[in-house]
Amino acid sequence: MARLLLFGGKGGVGKTTTSTSTAVGLADAGYKVLLVSSDPAHSTSDSLGVQLGPKPTAVAGFENLWGVELDPEARISDHIPKLTESITPFLGGEEMDINASEMVLPGLDEAMAFDELLKHLENPTWDVIVFDTAPTGHTLRFLALPEIIESWADKIIRMHRITGGIRAMMFGSKDGEKMREELEKFRRRVLHVRRILCDPEITRFTLVTIPEKMGVSETLRAYEALSDHKLPVTGCVVNRLTPDYDHPFIQTRRKTERKNIDELVAALPDIFYHEVELKETDIHGIESLRRISEEMHGKISKGEGLGPFQIGLGLEINRGTWVEGDDVYLHLPGIAREDLSLRSESGVVLVGINSREHQVPFNRPAKASDVVAKLENDVLRLTFPVD
Ligand SMILES: Nc1ncnc2c1ncn2[C@@H]1O[C@H](COP(=O)(O)OP(=O)(O)OP(=O)(O)O)[C@@H](O)[C@H]1O
Ligand SMILES: [Mg+2]
Repeated sequence: MARLLLFGGKGGVGKTTTSTSTAVGLADAGYKVLLVSSDPAHSTSDSLGVQLGPKPTAVAGFENLWGVELDPEARISDHIPKLTESITPFLGGEEMDINASEMVLPGLDEAMAFDELLKHLENPTWDVIVFDTAPTGHTLRFLALPEIIESWADKIIRMHRITGGIRAMMFGSKDGEKMREELEKFRRRVLHVRRILCDPEITRFTLVTIPEKMGVSETLRAYEALSDHKLPVTGCVVNRLTPDYDHPFIQTRRKTERKNIDELVAALPDIFYHEVELKETDIHGIESLRRISEEMHGKISKGEGLGPFQIGLGLEINRGTWVEGDDVYLHLPGIAREDLSLRSESGVVLVGINSREHQVPFNRPAKASDVVAKLENDVLRLTFPVD
């Protein structure tokens, strides 16, 4: 399974710039990187100079970088049609023309975004997924979602008892069970995403901030809140530092900024810090992003085979998928044998991970029954038949 690097912070501090730069640095090092943006303003596209859409798009100029923009219009009813279907009869049926997306379940938009993220995470094509998140508040809302779904389901069921009591008496209570089942499935999926987000072997959260007093207080608050939800916050980028010029105004600013950063480090001594200076111009285009990546992480070099490689974000990154001779290796931390399946379709071998299928990257057609699968130490080895 891919590693997930999340970048969060207040509006305008440089989340898109630093997450995109990190993705560029990792792709240059040879990792297969998917950059995911949830920003409806398309600033990731602007920053890279490439038009991204809801399907992963290769970024020109790279062998290993893809980008995707989560679709802000994606509605719950597209993703969970069954949930909508099963709730509708509860609300008075067709004549009321209401669906689940219009029922106010707080955090649902975030749930959609993170569900899509999970789909990409489970795709063994990617080594690393870099996620340019929405403001921290949204992430927090998502983390609280499983409990919200529970109380929401209770509320709907109670409402049904009052309004639908007679109907239920006449038609039985099948609808109720069906809805409860769908909600429960949805809640389990959200719980699964939350487990992944809170697994420090998979996820790292980097807070982006500016060296101002308000930035520091906001970062401390975000750290608290995210840690309360057990999200592994391991790094902080301090962006827009005033560069060192010999002018009293500049020097005063630098002194203030240094004092603010010292306060931040004293309060959160155990995370990695990266400093990025304020540049003369906005940061657009691949070359500027490369320079920012180097400023943050130094030159990233790739480990070979299983060799882990560590970026300053405090995460060891293994290859997600690699091919050696007739063997294809898939790194799937935390996966259980029963969550895996294998089948083929016209010579293409498909591996199912948590019931989602992914194409195995191999350059010869094969039948699944001829492929030998072995799961050992979180690595699934698929040995293809010799031609
Ligand atoms: N170190 C820097 N020097 C100069 N310009 C910068 C720097 N960091 C970011 N910028 C510029 O500041 C603007 C905001 O940065 P960015 O889009 O990365 O912020 P953001 O946190 O993603 O914002 P939003 O919350 O709107 O998504 C951009 O135009 C970007 O090019
Ligand atoms: Mg942004």
